Amino acid sequence: MEPLKWWQTGVVYQIYPRSFQDTDGDGVGDLEGIIRRLDYLVWLGVDALWLSPIYPSPMADFGYDISDFTGIDPLFGALDSFDHLIAAAHARGLRVILDFVPNHTSDRHPWFLESRSGRHNPKRDWYLWRDPGPGGGPPNNWRSRFGGNAWTYDRVSGQYYCHSFLPEQPDLNWRNREVRGAMYRVLRFWLDRGVDGFRVDVISSLIKDDHFRDNPINPGWQPGQRDVHRLIQLYSADRPEVHDIITEMRALLETYPGDRVLIGEIYLPIERLVAYYGADLKGVHLPFNFQLIGVDWDPIGIARIIREYESALPEGGWPNWVLGNHDQPRIATRVGPAQARVAAMLLLTLRGTPTLYYGDELGMEDVPIPPERIRDPWALREPGFGRDGARTPMPWDPSPNGGFTTGQPWLPLAADHAVRCVKRLASEPRSTLSLYRQLLALRRAHPALVHGRYVPLEVKGRVLAYMRQSEGERAVVALNFGPEPVAMEGAPFANGRVLLSTELNREPKSASPLILGGNEGVILIT
Ligand code: GLC
Repeated sequence: MEPLKWWQTGVVYQIYPRSFQDTDGDGVGDLEGIIRRLDYLVWLGVDALWLSPIYPSPMADFGYDISDFTGIDPLFGALDSFDHLIAAAHARGLRVILDFVPNHTSDRHPWFLESRSGRHNPKRDWYLWRDPGPGGGPPNNWRSRFGGNAWTYDRVSGQYYCHSFLPEQPDLNWRNREVRGAMYRVLRFWLDRGVDGFRVDVISSLIKDDHFRDNPINPGWQPGQRDVHRLIQLYSADRPEVHDIITEMRALLETYPGDRVLIGEIYLPIERLVAYYGADLKGVHLPFNFQLIGVDWDPIGIARIIREYESALPEGGWPNWVLGNHDQPRIATRVGPAQARVAAMLLLTLRGTPTLYYGDELGMEDVPIPPERIRDPWALREPGFGRDGARTPMPWDPSPNGGFTTGQPWLPLAADHAVRCVKRLASEPRSTLSLYRQLLALRRAHPALVHGRYVPLEVKGRVLAYMRQSEGERAVVALNFGPEPVAMEGAPFANGRVLLSTELNREPKSASPLILGGNEGVILIT
């Protein structure tokens, strides 16, 4: 068997750069701040950091609207500070993954300014321009993911352009070979600078239907649900041709030494998700698996998605799991503080690469954002759907701004930040931070947790249990999703030794039967 690659054995930590560490007092995090916190990440025990976008941007969507793909926004630093970050991370054995945003540019990107300047401009075809529909309105019925129409009219040329997100984020035309060439040069630019891979934004939406057919109405849509879900995204996303592009991106990465990784942001049901491993595994290495985000927090349902996912994986396809990111409510808010610890044990003991979202290791919850402090453009367009609450500053110490900034933080810190901060939790032996750190250390110490097969055990009451089995070692994981204690009788629970409990100070370490406390998870070695 081939030895596993770093992105198979390692753990990815997502940093939202605006909110991690500010060093110049403008209230927004920067690259220098990330450099200063690298030792924290080493101490925590992660292997790679993924940075949400740091490129020049008008910040209509906080960096996901890029006006220069090969620069650094002055808010975050400069190319020098980026090079310094790469060197400092690599010196500590940490990999660096960048966010690559190929679906759209900013409307201020020079390419779009040119494209917009006239119907005959050579860059016209770099974006998706269409004539008005028969009644003079938009060319078809597509909706923006942030609510409203996916088409904006350009008075000067009398045509509409397509934007899957904000009007400030026009979609590129990936059927155009020049666009592909230009975007592949972007990938090379960063690979040449030493980045270890990319998380590719909305990768499954790069190609749209060539006839721009109307999307079908979604009969299940109900008022109160997201506007975009009024329609089924049949023609605007997950088109078969997208796989050719991904194969090209992957082939480009393969020309570089050092196992550079390609990760795709893909919100699709399992059977369509796994297609993104590509024919002969020549697609993305890791199609992000978001199944734990949408699922009801229930052991039977979770056992089912693990089983379905494990059996849908193509031969040789490496699994991965995610609990949260900058677009989702935080795990501790979704399942509550006690279950957030169980979730941590689940994430870090399932088979596959885990991705952690900054602050989740502190048990951070979504911060209520007063209306006047809302920044997320989505929340402003579709009230109730904001992401600001999950993007608030990382609390480092008990000082007034949590050690995040000496200025005014761009989003408020959590009300409990003086107690829920790295400095405090690092010295509390039972804190969520200590739990994460011990789980990460266990993965390094016990190969079964990384290499082992996933062997499901029967769900008993509210307890999800499984084994990770490798040659010579067998780890048993039992996670109590309920508040009541449960007695786990017989093999493989009896006579095992508890390596780690979410309670951290569990005694006794072994017993028959094993009594699992309410909301307790344990890892046993048998
Ligand atoms: C992805 C990003 C999200 C962004 C959107 C548009 O879903 O994760 O934050 O708003 O793409 O780029």
